[in-house]
Amino acid sequence: MADWRAIILAAGKGVRMKSDLPKVVHSVCGRPMVRYVINVSLAAGAKPTIVIGYGREHVEKVIKDCDADIAIQEEQLGTGHAVMAARGALESYEGNVIVLSGDVPLMQPDSLEFIMKAHEEKSPAATIVTCQIGNPDGYGRIVRDGEGAVQKVVEHADASELEKRINEINTGIYAFRADAMWAALEKIKPENEQQEYYLPDVIPVLLEAGEHVEAVKMANAMEFLGVNDRIQLAEATNIRRKAILARHMAAGVTIVDPATTYIEEEVEIGTDSVIYPFTVISGSVRIGRHCKVGPFSHVRTGTEMRERSELGNFCESKKTVIGEGTKAKHLSYLGDGIIGKKANIGAGTIFANYDGKNKYQTTVKDGAHVGSGTVFVAPCSMGENAVTGAGAIITKNTEIPPGATYFGMPAVPMRQFVEQRKMLKEMEKEKKRKASSKGGKK
Ligand code: UD1
Ligand code: CA
Repeated sequence: MADWRAIILAAGKGVRMKSDLPKVVHSVCGRPMVRYVINVSLAAGAKPTIVIGYGREHVEKVIKDCDADIAIQEEQLGTGHAVMAARGALESYEGNVIVLSGDVPLMQPDSLEFIMKAHEEKSPAATIVTCQIGNPDGYGRIVRDGEGAVQKVVEHADASELEKRINEINTGIYAFRADAMWAALEKIKPENEQQEYYLPDVIPVLLEAGEHVEAVKMANAMEFLGVNDRIQLAEATNIRRKAILARHMAAGVTIVDPATTYIEEEVEIGTDSVIYPFTVISGSVRIGRHCKVGPFSHVRTGTEMRERSELGNFCESKKTVIGEGTKAKHLSYLGDGIIGKKANIGAGTIFANYDGKNKYQTTVKDGAHVGSGTVFVAPCSMGENAVTGAGAIITKNTEIPPGATYFGMPAVPMRQFVEQRKMLKEMEKEKKRKASSKGGKK
């Protein structure tokens, strides 16, 4: 394969998002949009240079561990201007360049490889990637001549009523021969409705210079959805959500009701696990084989469910290991916990992990039986095969020994609890006795 580099445009504000954050850091199924684009270019073998500018500290934060170069576009004067900002980073590079938008997150590696191959076959100065869509609003329209050759792109804001009816759109993805691209960029002018340097304006410039321009029309329009506002963000999320669910189902996971299940990108689930309706699994989560989750549960980042464990109705977990065969079947919050094997977490158990300042850990060992409504005020622990009674409050720094049974509020060992109860009863009796003997004296 020929030499390829990628330029990813990610310097714009994204005015239509109406957000304090730059558009490309907004997430689709738990992953910032720009990271999808970086992944796809790396998967296709093109090392990316990412052009950042507006809110660059936010973008830098989400791309810091990526194998990519960074270029700065100080002022956002349009997509053509943004590509020019990458010129220094690609100094003396003479191969092919693929230009991608940080706000077109759904393209798949095989599509990008197809585009790169198509460009290599005919080796034109530029290949513009288009597709046909139902509602072309907001996109640049592809204008072709009588023979069907691409002449130019007209932006929505600049389009005539007739041009607005064209439903073949510019996906914002292009392949270029580097030298031809740099030369053409020098000639574009911000003479349009938005007074910006439009990248697609290089097409007529190249044609005028007698260069060869190709177009590839891609069939799967969904992959080329551009995210400009929150409605398109939700559309992209929904497309990805379905793809993620399909991937899990193909790998042997039962998703009882895909319509009401949301699983993010970084989640792993083992075969023969069952995910019941209205369940959200977000962040980095690992679920083993033969597990059950939901209905109505939220499994959050850092949760690790080992084989045959269960998180049932209305449970939430975060940064917690749920040991093999352990069950929390109803109404629990398990945060910052380590739970061993075959423990039973009673209905309504709470790991109170946060004291307003810091988070602390709760440890529950193998075979523990946690009574309904137990609250663990972390840090605290419960030994192997220990038991708590219903409603027990395990106070800070309590370490329940293996096999012990704790009751009450604050929870104490059973014998102490029984003695306390006995003492209370004695005191009650004493009070009554005194009261009645006083009455007798009257
Ligand atoms: C762009 C194309 C349009 C195409 C559409 C596909 C232009 C002029 N228009 O329009 O033909 O149909 O994408 O989705 O290219 N950016 C910068 N610096 C800037 C301006 C933008 O880095 O100065 C980045 C943005 O962060 C974004 C990308 O370039 O990631 C595209 O910019 P955007 O403003 O969304 O362009 P569209 O109006 O969608
Ligand atoms: Ca866009």
